[in-house]
Amino acid sequence: MALAHPSRKPEPGNAEVSVNPLYARVPMHIPKNELPAGGLDPAIAYQIVHDELMLDGNARLNLATFVTTWMEPTADKLMAECFDKNMIDKDEYPRTAELEARCVRMLAGLWNAPSTHEAPGCSTTGSSEACMLAGLAMKRRWRHRGGKGKPNLVMGINVQVCWEKFANYWDVEARLVPMDGDRFHLSAEEAVKLCDENTIGVVAILGSTFDGSYEPVEEICQALDELQAKTGLDIPVHVDGASGAMIAPFCDPDLRWDFRLPRVASINTSGHKYGLVYPGVGWVVWRDTAALPDDLVFQVNYLGGTMPTFALNFSRPGSQVVTQYYNFLRLGFDGYRRVQQSCRDIATSLAGQIAELGPFRLLTRGDQLPVFAFTVADGQPFSVFDVSNGLRARGWQVPAYTFPANRTDLAVLRIVVRNGFSLDLADALLTDLKQMLPALSTLEHARQGPVSFAHGT
Ligand SMILES: Cc1ncc(COP(=O)(O)O)c(C=O)c1O
Repeated sequence: MALAHPSRKPEPGNAEVSVNPLYARVPMHIPKNELPAGGLDPAIAYQIVHDELMLDGNARLNLATFVTTWMEPTADKLMAECFDKNMIDKDEYPRTAELEARCVRMLAGLWNAPSTHEAPGCSTTGSSEACMLAGLAMKRRWRHRGGKGKPNLVMGINVQVCWEKFANYWDVEARLVPMDGDRFHLSAEEAVKLCDENTIGVVAILGSTFDGSYEPVEEICQALDELQAKTGLDIPVHVDGASGAMIAPFCDPDLRWDFRLPRVASINTSGHKYGLVYPGVGWVVWRDTAALPDDLVFQVNYLGGTMPTFALNFSRPGSQVVTQYYNFLRLGFDGYRRVQQSCRDIATSLAGQIAELGPFRLLTRGDQLPVFAFTVADGQPFSVFDVSNGLRARGWQVPAYTFPANRTDLAVLRIVVRNGFSLDLADALLTDLKQMLPALSTLEHARQGPVSFAHGT
């Protein structure tokens, strides 16, 4: 959410919204930054807001975001039917609450929880809130174990910003393992080195926002098993599966990253990423009730009784949870498998063709998350920022950014393939990229800074 702040100046130019004379019979003066004194007819107000939004990007050409940009009309219909339902009002909307609980059980089953009926979990506004809840549960468990002093959380420096927020907001030390050479995410060896008696948990990401690679969850768990055998420290793992927890079960069924590993205490995902729902819905599931301390759970009224809840927010719309359930029914396991595999096929094929163009070097190939990062090969006169800028001029949003410590020397482009980014669109992107190359290769000054974008969305 953009923060209104003195450092964010009002837009330069006219202080009034300019209204097309066709929309109203008399000239209108509508201030931009003050609440207008009077109102407007709905049709005029609609047209003004609609026109303001015209310059936003085309969501489906946005290859920066992981978030769903298209749902089918029947899902849109259900969304609209549920905008007015408040998720927290379990008494008024018991069926919405039931659909939420069914989704949790389905996810617990998908992630191989020991018992799908015993695994607690809930919907959230997204993975960020889900990660906060999972982090809080780890922190509280550590306190219950007698933890004293300043708690810490071990993770790779490639974690999404929500984990830095968690550490900052809840006063936990973020122990970040830097990148090193061609290692762009957390390794088991480095994770264990940072653990001590104040470590509330280790976060493993499936997969990394920076390059789409899966972190080695099983190896991390094994290394922590060995640490426990040596020192007695029993450190839980949280898997941040914002994207991958809805990819791996379908495309990599043999990969052991989930509750099959006894050390995995909790898993989150973004329903609004590869769960294929519009923003904002996330999910978090704990392996069993022991992993979620009871004293974090609040009771809300429900049909004369009470229902347990765990959330940072109170009110939020039911639409996303309902359409998550719709997607589960509509697609089933096989439908999700086909959608995700097709994204992966498109990502790997596009990555391969970009590599063949010559001036680029792939860091990842799109064969884990359907996401890949690539950089400009040594000796080219242009930078990733020039490529991003050129693509943006043609309507594509492909972010370029530098990696964090210790690879701040490395700048990459990243492409996220989501449902709706078809092979045809991939071909169109490749054609544009090819057409840009002659002009790029005659550039005299490569752009060094990033074009604005958020890579972790
Ligand atoms: C690994 C990871 N964790 C957490 C998040 C935050 O997700 P959300 O946007 O659902 O809050 C993201 C977003 O990209 C992510 O990639």
